[in-house]
Amino acid sequence: LNLEQTTKGKGQYDLEYSKCECFWGTDPGKLVRMIPEYLKGGVALDLGAGECKNSVFLSKNGFVVDAVEISELALRNYERITSPKAEPNNKLITTYNSDALLFENNIQYDLVIAYGLLHCLSSIEEVDLIISKMKKWTKLNGIIIVVSFTDMLKVPFAQAYLDATLLPVGYLFNAFSEFDVLQYEEDVISETHPTSNIEHQHSLTRLMVRKIKN
Ligand SMILES: C[S@@+](CC[C@H](N)C(=O)[O-])C[C@H]1O[C@@H](n2cnc3c(N)ncnc32)[C@H](O)[C@@H]1O
Repeated sequence: LNLEQTTKGKGQYDLEYSKCECFWGTDPGKLVRMIPEYLKGGVALDLGAGECKNSVFLSKNGFVVDAVEISELALRNYERITSPKAEPNNKLITTYNSDALLFENNIQYDLVIAYGLLHCLSSIEEVDLIISKMKKWTKLNGIIIVVSFTDMLKVPFAQAYLDATLLPVGYLFNAFSEFDVLQYEEDVISETHPTSNIEHQHSLTRLMVRKIKN
């Protein structure tokens, strides 16, 4: 391992997690915020959960959540920000410090989300593997949310440490062709993280689909 890989850590964001109390904030992602319109609750799987902002929102909206995250530092931030004292619903979230590609569970979920995970994976083969696992983990009539960077814009200078697998525009839409599309957009976002304070852009796909056949 070279120094960059070491400091980047598993999942690529460790340097960021080590430098601040909360890198991603506590507001849920756009599609996660829409979930109460589609599902009243159930069991959810949050893959690449980070500091669990989406898991926390889901736990407050009727879900019991399994949150899988490869970075210990991300989960440490989660424990600090959203401690059981601060969040009475916290028992509804079980965290697994594990590689999502190696995560094993025989149950099926009402909701499976991967918010920002896919572009962290090291190849398109790994992306395809996690997509096929997500499909398997979802109940009939259950929902999948995937949000990932696309290759329309390069990785910004402010996040030069990211060795991202950028998906072609339309890739996720095609990968879920046997599903019913509930929400789909190709977008460009501007954001500023607390560690660098440099405003930068990402191109991304947001997709929400329903499993309509086994
Ligand atoms: C872009 S961040 C998003 C975090 C969170 N989902 C959110 O929306 O705030 C992606 C997360 O995926 C994690 N990650 C990367 N590769 C992973 C893997 N193979 N298994 C599990 N988590 C992974 C990273 O550590 C990081 O916390």
